[in-house]
Amino acid sequence: MARSRQPLIAGNWKMNGLRADALALATGVAEGCKQARWTDREVLVCPPATLIMAVAAAVKGSGVLVGGQNCHANASGAHTGDISAEMLRDSGASHVIVGHSERRTDCGETDAAVRAKAEAAWRAGLLPIVCIGETLAEREAGRTLQVLETQIKGSVPAGATAAKLVVAYEPVWAIGTGKTPTVAEVATVHAHIRRVLGGLVPDASAVRLLYGGSVKGSNAGELLAAGDVDGALVGGASLKADEFLAIAKAA
Ligand code: PGA
Repeated sequence: MARSRQPLIAGNWKMNGLRADALALATGVAEGCKQARWTDREVLVCPPATLIMAVAAAVKGSGVLVGGQNCHANASGAHTGDISAEMLRDSGASHVIVGHSERRTDCGETDAAVRAKAEAAWRAGLLPIVCIGETLAEREAGRTLQVLETQIKGSVPAGATAAKLVVAYEPVWAIGTGKTPTVAEVATVHAHIRRVLGGLVPDASAVRLLYGGSVKGSNAGELLAAGDVDGALVGGASLKADEFLAIAKAA
């Protein structure tokens, strides 16, 4: 039976990769996906912006999708150093990550800024992956669900539908640390996220919710089997083709 929410395995390469390594990685992922012939899941790689065009060419015909890691809210203009959603699209991207915690922290991105970026993605014909997640202090204060609710309400634009939105739950304390919440905790949080989305998105039951934070080949199976988990946003483990493909296989 076809699953109503097609799993999405997304690799976030962050600020890693010069051309030669990145092309080897992209080719490795593309080859693995071609061999696997998956039709029941989507595999996405999000290289640094400098490599989107080359990576898109390298994975052509493999079914692997390509995304950006961030975009500016405006389509063009006097924003030195920034990249618009239209430019990502023009380079071969179909998706864009917005509101990653590293950008919320490093660049002071607010929920309102993230919402504007998600709207920019729509304007350019990209699918935004809106990231949310609590810090360790927020978690220890018992505020996780409340923090996520505020982030969702502030970051998801009006007019969102399941076809136009992916949400990634990434506990900040789990990113790049090797720590993850328990499967039961992930399931509880994802159920809460879906409930909150229920007040904002007409078909919230069909929105894909990704888990991110120290996902690797060895824990992907149990994390991806948790209730309301429809894929993964993978950082460190997406930089090795075999490890990333093992995660995609587990979906
Ligand atoms: P990690 O990063 O898999 O290295 O923990 C995840 C992310 O930041 O998207």
